Amino acid sequence: MSHLKTKHLLGIKNLDKEDIELIFRTASYFKEVLNRPIKKVPPLRDVTIANVFFENSTRTKLSFELAEKRLSADVINFTASGSSVKKGETLLDTVHNILAMKVDMVVMRHSSSGAPHFLARHINATIINAGDGTHEHPTQALLDTFSILDKTGSVAGKRVVIVGDILHSRVALSNIFALQLLQAEVMVCGPPTLLPKHIGELGVKVETNIRKALAWCDVANILRIQLERQQMKYFPSLREYSQYFGVNKPLLDSLNKEILIMHPGPINRGVEITSDAADSDHSIILEQVENGVAVRMAVLYLLAEMN
Ligand code: CP
Repeated sequence: MSHLKTKHLLGIKNLDKEDIELIFRTASYFKEVLNRPIKKVPPLRDVTIANVFFENSTRTKLSFELAEKRLSADVINFTASGSSVKKGETLLDTVHNILAMKVDMVVMRHSSSGAPHFLARHINATIINAGDGTHEHPTQALLDTFSILDKTGSVAGKRVVIVGDILHSRVALSNIFALQLLQAEVMVCGPPTLLPKHIGELGVKVETNIRKALAWCDVANILRIQLERQQMKYFPSLREYSQYFGVNKPLLDSLNKEILIMHPGPINRGVEITSDAADSDHSIILEQVENGVAVRMAVLYLLAEMN
């Protein structure tokens, strides 16, 4: 099987292990291409892609745009701020207008969970979810798990803890699905108020002590506190959060073991992670960003084949 079994990438929930392994093999090839002097290849010539971002982004938006350009696609960019959304246009009308310009694929970020699924039901273009509300962020999970594979040679059997604001995190949910498909053991760690009540039913371990979580794991994926999605106070202060759940270099050194530190970004330095930990030898944070371009090239290339 050398094709994905889906027309859209709406979530890791819609992929199986074979799909992810195919994406990883393709990403490894594109990672090699990206290290050549000439980084541009022709497979998406005459394919037009719209990056439609209704919510802020640095990494995901730039990474998709670069991946599209490396594959020779024609690219148009839309951000909600400065658009006619501000004049009351609906999501569907906005996207129909973009599609009237003969667009083949839409990469969409939206603050509402399910927005890309809604679009996929109403339009013919291929939809790639670049993060929907608190639901899924599939390409982030793919690049995170690819980075573990790339760094260590395997994902199966690895113990991975996801630390922080699990309740509001689309990165956490997509990572849990991807890691479990690839047979890693998964733990979540954070204050009880930021852990969904029934999270254990997904088959993950639950821990509220950061030292015990780090002692257990091979890989720690540290998440930001998503204040923009929080409707109430879930902990007394950022200072207290940092004291009880922040990852710092003395804590890592005291474990006296090899541990990979990951973060999807954006980092709030001094809150969930200190600079001495984020910039330490344990950290593969910038390798995640580098791998993101190759992984997104793989996703775009494989979905374009399904058109
Ligand atoms: N990791 C991530 O989604 O970052 P951006 O919000 O900057 O795209």
